[in-house]
Amino acid sequence: MITGRIRNYNLMNKVVSATEAAMLIKDGMTVATSGFTPSGYPKAVPLALAQIAEETKEKIKIKLYTGASVGDELDGTLARSEIISKRLPYQTNNSMRDYTNNGGCEYLDMHLSHVSQYANYGFLGKIDIAIVEAVAITKEGYIIPSTSIGCSPTFIDLAEKVIIEINTSQPLELEGMSDIYIPEAPPNRKPIGLTNASQRIGTTYIPCNIEKIAAIVITDIEDNVKPLAPIDDISNQISGHLIDFLENEVKKGRLSENLLPLQSGVGNVANAVLGGLLHSKFNNLVCYTEVIQDSMLDLLDAGKALHISGTAITPSEEGLKRFKDKIDFYKDKIILRPQEISNHPEIIRRLGVIAMNTAIEADIYGNVNSTNIMGSQMMNGIGGSGDFSRNSYISIFTTPSTAKNGTISSIVPFVSHTDHTEHDVMIIITEQGTADLRGLSPKERAKLIINNCSHPDYRPMLLDYFNRAENRKFKHTPHILEEALSWHSRYLETGSMKII
Ligand code: COA
Repeated sequence: MITGRIRNYNLMNKVVSATEAAMLIKDGMTVATSGFTPSGYPKAVPLALAQIAEETKEKIKIKLYTGASVGDELDGTLARSEIISKRLPYQTNNSMRDYTNNGGCEYLDMHLSHVSQYANYGFLGKIDIAIVEAVAITKEGYIIPSTSIGCSPTFIDLAEKVIIEINTSQPLELEGMSDIYIPEAPPNRKPIGLTNASQRIGTTYIPCNIEKIAAIVITDIEDNVKPLAPIDDISNQISGHLIDFLENEVKKGRLSENLLPLQSGVGNVANAVLGGLLHSKFNNLVCYTEVIQDSMLDLLDAGKALHISGTAITPSEEGLKRFKDKIDFYKDKIILRPQEISNHPEIIRRLGVIAMNTAIEADIYGNVNSTNIMGSQMMNGIGGSGDFSRNSYISIFTTPSTAKNGTISSIVPFVSHTDHTEHDVMIIITEQGTADLRGLSPKERAKLIINNCSHPDYRPMLLDYFNRAENRKFKHTPHILEEALSWHSRYLETGSMKII
């Protein structure tokens, strides 16, 4: 079963059951794991930990750090067992979301490019145990990661002990897909030598001090990937506007026919929007991104994209099957990097990445909320959207113009929470149209966003708000503050943002 997966004979002594490995985790510890967008996270040990807590009734509270979102075996199980006291930097699990929003744990939502360096600089405290999923361990004790890299190199380096889950459901052919490069600490950090998305600058394994390997667990539990919603008319319209925008940029000479490296965010809308490129006239595309969703695999399959660099394979169940079935085809076209590199500002700026992320809401001046519903309910987290949008060549945010069956306008006078400021947002696209905010003042932006992007049901209300605000004393970013946020409270009180 484990032929070719544990290549150091002495390490066979470390093979234990998931329960024995989980018993190494004690109350008060900080546990840092592999995993990024339900891919490549440990599964057997967290399930065993929850069982131990249930059976012994012992109090176990841990801080849980990951690369990004992980599957139900980790976030869901440990949230439902109330084992997590603090969580960072990103999640997408329903139980974890409820646990956070109901005050079960502290949650720190971070730019994903920051996690490794914050940990390295000592800003996040000591890491007691790293648990990482691997496809194999080399004879030196180095780790061959599975479907995501995330922060594993840093967590393995910093942790006192390392638990490895060898997952036999993950194909051995993943070996060779990763490119592990770890930047030096300031002031001795050198320029990162990546000048194109398909370049390799590191190793195919994650270095690990063999003495730190405390336990090895063998499992075959598959990545519990999330389903994607079917592509609807609204996403198709948004996608159409995006393609028109890109074609126009080519006509204006601001982009070449092959565009620039593409980044696309997470979720249904992002996947659908990128899907539109499949039927566009653009060819020989390259992606420098964080997550590799189904639509990126489609681009590779169709020969539309040549190379994809990311930190995680983030497919649906169908996408995961396709990825495994055709792994030999994808192997030389996909590179998985640590998130510190996939999301690094230096590289994103150098390559001129076109960043396409999704907003929950945007305000009339171009500020974007990607995380907090109604200002205080955490949805997922900022993820890499800030890393990419601030440093990109062009930063694009897409959103349907309304949410919850039209009862909420996604274009509001003032966002209820800000993730991306007006300074980081160049283009807003809804199914209504596109607002190109480049070079515009706040008042110019407001008129364009309202007229081009808001839903006709809300447009008169937004124009009325803006016109009345403009007649007030201060004219730079005109607001009626006492009224601006009442849009959200109106929804909470009546179930609709419309004035009834
Ligand atoms: N007010 C209230 N709820 C809203 C809303 C708004 N303005 N906009 C969206 N929502 C709700 C939707 O109704 C839906 O709720 P449901 O799950 O109960 O049906 C949920 O938010 C998700 O919306 P959906 O339209 O399905 O979008 P999505 O799957 O494309 O996700 C984000 C959108 C913004 C949540 C997601 O892209 C995200 O987490 N982004 C931040 C991280 C990021 O961008 N990472 C990428 C870096 S690589």
